[in-house]
Amino acid sequence: MSRTLRTAAAFMAAVLVIALAAVFPLDMTSRAEAAGTAPAVLIDKGTKKITKTYTISSDVVIPKGAVLYVKNGGKLYIKSGAELTLNGTLKIAAGGSVFVQGALNCGEGSLISATGKMKILKAGTVSLGGTMKVNKGGNICGLGTLEVLNNFSDISCKGTVTAKIKAPAPIKTDGVTTVGGVIIVNREFDLPKDYGDGLDESTYNAYLKMKNASGYNMSIVSGFRSYEKQKATFAYWESIDGFERADRYSAQPGHSEHQTGLAMDISSLKQSYGETEEGKWLAANCWKYGFLLRYPKNSEYITGYIYEPWHVRYLGVSTAKLVHDSGLSLEEFLGVYNS
Ligand code: DAL
Ligand code: ZN
Repeated sequence: MSRTLRTAAAFMAAVLVIALAAVFPLDMTSRAEAAGTAPAVLIDKGTKKITKTYTISSDVVIPKGAVLYVKNGGKLYIKSGAELTLNGTLKIAAGGSVFVQGALNCGEGSLISATGKMKILKAGTVSLGGTMKVNKGGNICGLGTLEVLNNFSDISCKGTVTAKIKAPAPIKTDGVTTVGGVIIVNREFDLPKDYGDGLDESTYNAYLKMKNASGYNMSIVSGFRSYEKQKATFAYWESIDGFERADRYSAQPGHSEHQTGLAMDISSLKQSYGETEEGKWLAANCWKYGFLLRYPKNSEYITGYIYEPWHVRYLGVSTAKLVHDSGLSLEEFLGVYNS
């Protein structure tokens, strides 16, 4: 190759490299990582208001005390590959939208307050290590995942959450298994023999509120049952129906949710209760008072028990709403159902 040709080839190669760099810029993550630097701070204090379209395409941090405020008409995009670390507050006003295509990682002490919309796109994730207030009209939607790192009670939900909620792993403490602060008792997870000492007070108060609102009688057929009481209960049903049949609707001692003090049987122990006006009201409205119909129709393969239109489990208003809106059974919602 002649010298002129070599120079021309080198020149063309340089042009190509520059053109490629313009079309495919190195993302900030790898540049920051390569340089060993921390992600940039988007605002260091006070409030940054977003009123138009604002795109985050590299890793950035909102520190403690700082507020990112997406106002009415504002659109915040967290692009694929970018990560927004939130240690302060992200406020989304009514009419404001956040689109998460990358990652929104919320640290301890952070707050998301949404009266507008947060759409988590399919590949996007929001991991919640702080708290989230979904206010009335607020909407956390999309096909992506909202990962709860600590407790479900970190979400206070008065709006709608339709994005998939990923539960933290189960934790067993003193023989009691909880998932995100929610006690789980079923065929797999049991309670210690001496656990429980009566119906939980919040459960009872929520029941009173529900009963009054319903206008129905709603008597408590059975509330708290100790380990020993459950042993006698199962033995009773076994004497009537035999082990195999009883086992489909009565739990073994240590495996009954009634031992938590958070479960109640309302009014009747007949499946036809589900067809009565009261039973229908209970199924449709109990979530508003913090309850979940624990053993729905056609779910024996998940919950372990046949349809019990009378058995409700208290979760608290906010978590009950999340479970209700998910359309899932408790096992599925808590991620403890292994098909
Ligand atoms: N009927 C429910 C499964 C219980 O015995 O706890
Ligand atoms: Zn029950």
